[in-house]
Amino acid sequence: MKYEGIIFDLDGVICSTDEYHYLAWKMLAEKLGINDFTKKDNERQRGVSRMESLEVVLEKTDRKFTAEEKLALATEKNEYYKKLLSQMSEKDLSDEVKDTLNAIKAAGIKIAIGSSSKNAKFILTRIGLINSFDAISDGENITRTKPDPQVFTMAAEFLGLEPGRCLVVEDAEAGIKAGHDGGFDTAAIGSATKSALATYRLKTFSDLKAIVL
Ligand code: BG6
Ligand code: MG
Repeated sequence: MKYEGIIFDLDGVICSTDEYHYLAWKMLAEKLGINDFTKKDNERQRGVSRMESLEVVLEKTDRKFTAEEKLALATEKNEYYKKLLSQMSEKDLSDEVKDTLNAIKAAGIKIAIGSSSKNAKFILTRIGLINSFDAISDGENITRTKPDPQVFTMAAEFLGLEPGRCLVVEDAEAGIKAGHDGGFDTAAIGSATKSALATYRLKTFSDLKAIVL
């Protein structure tokens, strides 16, 4: 087997919560009078922390905010985001993702989550995957977010595997850099396929099977 473990990003890889991040930031932006927050701006928020994502929004206004006000804004966005997440169910997990994860597990390969999000376990519960992974490394156990490799090196540690034995699956350029810098091979999907650092590029999630099985 080429890899003993696969570490999956969550938002934009396992499910489409990347779209909800975008919608929630857009709601906050509009409340601040920023009416030109676009998907292009949102691309730079992929993989990075909630506070760094806020800075991408605030670049679009001349208004200045104290650290305390910024925290309140990030909390407000998270409330919009959680409201969207609370409407999710097992229907938001595609058959393609479900079947691919099952095929990988059936081959004896370990699977983990490597996500910067503090909402990761909530999302996994909503989509019925909370007990499906051998390890979860997320925004609750890290001190640095992507492009720092910490979230992936901790996921590999939780699996008891060396980075060189694991593949990272990512939709964020910051996540591909994190995987690369941590000594992992990487499979890019969606906008991460632009990254020159990716080992593989997936057209669709199930392409993984041809790489790892
Ligand atoms: C990542 C997203 O998965 O999680 C980022 O790609 C987000 O856009 C980060 O900022 C933190 O998420 P949360 O849910 O803790 O605000
Ligand atoms: Mg992502």
